Amino acid sequence: MKRALTLHVNGEEHQVEIEPNRLLLHVLRDELGLTGTKEGCSIGVCGACSVIVDGRLVSSCLTLAIGCNRKNIETIEGLAKDGKLHPLQQAFIEYGGFQCGICTPGQIMAAKALLDENAKPSEEEVKEWMSGNLCRCTGYYKILESVMAVVDGKTDPNYTFRKRETTAKIQSLDVYKPVAKTN
Ligand code: FES
Ligand code: FES
Repeated sequence: MKRALTLHVNGEEHQVEIEPNRLLLHVLRDELGLTGTKEGCSIGVCGACSVIVDGRLVSSCLTLAIGCNRKNIETIEGLAKDGKLHPLQQAFIEYGGFQCGICTPGQIMAAKALLDENAKPSEEEVKEWMSGNLCRCTGYYKILESVMAVVDGKTDPNYTFRKRETTAKIQSLDVYKPVAKTN
């Protein structure tokens, strides 16, 4: 039998009716359309599904949504404010903390949970804390560098993303040869 519950997600209240065995991960993605939170291993190992519930980092693939009734849930979608990225989001872009991006929302939420508790962790503390978030692409150093850039205040407030003209210029060098479509 379905149960009604109230979820406070990123400062917004949502009423949902769900089966009691639904996981928070699936309710966020499928009921609320918040697909920023990713599903990797589904067994609490990879950290891709990390969100913050009442200030605690949790694996949403192991968390029943029903247990989050009236709790405050933070997901990656809630981090940017007024069109401005959260410093961690900016740092991951600026310092190349991601490649395919699947693990990135979880990495950033994990780092946020740490920095909310301790704004000046050591590199060793960051390494240990982030060890629950796996990444198959980056080799981890760039993730560490991104988090430490926020800790050390090294993000550039005037950082601008690569402009289209630059991309066009690179393409004009004929380095990239698009593969011709056969049909
Ligand atoms: S999907 Fe939840 S820890 Fe991997
Ligand atoms: S950026 Fe691809 S898994 Fe981390």
